Amino acid sequence: MSIRNIKSNFLFINKLQCFKYSTSPKSVATVTLNEKNFIADEYTNLTPKIISYLNRNLHLQPNNPLCLVRQRIVKYFYSSFTHGGNPTFSVYENLSPIVTTKQNFDDLLIPEDHPSRAKSDCYYINRNNLLRGHMTAHQSELLRAGLDNFLMIGDVYRRDEIDSSHFPVFHQVDAVRSQLKEQLFENHRGLNIFEPDFDPMHPSDYKNSIDDPTKQSCHTLEAAKLMETQLKNHLIGLVQALFGEDIKHRWVDAYFPFTHPSWELEIFYDNNWMEVLGCGIVRNEILANAGPNNTIAYAFGLGLERLTMALYKIPDIRLMWSTDSGFLSQFHDKGIDEKITYKPVSVYPQCVNDLSFWLPPSLTIDTFMCNDFYDLVRDVGGDIIEQVKLKDKFIHPKNKKHSLCFSIVYRHLERTLTQAEVNEVHKEIEKAAVNSFGVVIR
Ligand code: DAH
Repeated sequence: MSIRNIKSNFLFINKLQCFKYSTSPKSVATVTLNEKNFIADEYTNLTPKIISYLNRNLHLQPNNPLCLVRQRIVKYFYSSFTHGGNPTFSVYENLSPIVTTKQNFDDLLIPEDHPSRAKSDCYYINRNNLLRGHMTAHQSELLRAGLDNFLMIGDVYRRDEIDSSHFPVFHQVDAVRSQLKEQLFENHRGLNIFEPDFDPMHPSDYKNSIDDPTKQSCHTLEAAKLMETQLKNHLIGLVQALFGEDIKHRWVDAYFPFTHPSWELEIFYDNNWMEVLGCGIVRNEILANAGPNNTIAYAFGLGLERLTMALYKIPDIRLMWSTDSGFLSQFHDKGIDEKITYKPVSVYPQCVNDLSFWLPPSLTIDTFMCNDFYDLVRDVGGDIIEQVKLKDKFIHPKNKKHSLCFSIVYRHLERTLTQAEVNEVHKEIEKAAVNSFGVVIR
């Protein structure tokens, strides 16, 4: 994102007065979130619309389908893993979504130049703080607190495109399962987690590498393979508990900075392979930095919306945020294992309006940040925005001006929109685009 865009986004935020954005006598701009003040800087790109989703905690609302699926996942882990009659896993589902860049990235070995840190992909409060982009952001702090087996469940925030399966706020379940040598090799006492030349007491003396695709160099092959087998069995057990014993699945090799090796699990659903989770063996550097240097751990993260939409046949991700009783009543007072198929209350018609503009000379069709535009559309249009599609890019052959055309699909989930009211919102979006990006409407 260019500085220019940040500035314009700021102006845009300022204009929308619901944002608590104040200027102190020393003229330091601050952002207030959950009663905490943060000093705004050139990273700040939160919008009032995004702030309005904080504290909704859909995963904890009894009538919300996300809450049912959350409970089913927790039940699977509680009942599958016990010691002395108590659940092995502890569950954290009230962790604040306001995190530091250290928690969200550095602690997880995410490189400085990794694309997931980009301002175009995250909601930054300022240079050092952001709304978490994944629940893995809490992994190190919970390990540091001495936990070994835990689930972290909550809302995560990512700047993305707009369509029926993407929303800038969604929910994830993330987990860590750690094992000591005695636990992992309960039945094979002679085996070890670490290679003989690796000293767990001094991990930084050893250059742990991830060059070998099967394991981290500090781990023995037996430990890595046994953990991989357990991880895969436990996660297949989870999707079977959710979708039934016959669910078809496959493993795909993956890369995450915080695990090695890493995989994604896909299930065959609705005639398509659908990715449901990412997982892997936690990088030893993360465990050692956070404390437990004598364990090996696996971790995984899954998106609740995607599973919930598939399980209950919910066609549009925006419905998760509905407060309409026609939607919520379908999930009210239901047992968590009850089979529910969402019945559309009714489908109201869409209105599609196109918006074309010339970019200012400082921007090109390649440097214009579409995510900035999507946030602006969502801020002005609210939840009646169903989809925004980039329809056309064009460079004028003579004057070399660059132009973009977006189709904006409007649909209210609970009533019919009139063309006249859509036109009014559309005009507001045009005006905001002119003010924020300096474009000229065609
Ligand atoms: N944090 C990853 C994401 O949001 C998902 C993930 C992958 C979580 C691997 C993990 C993991 O804990 O081990 O895409």
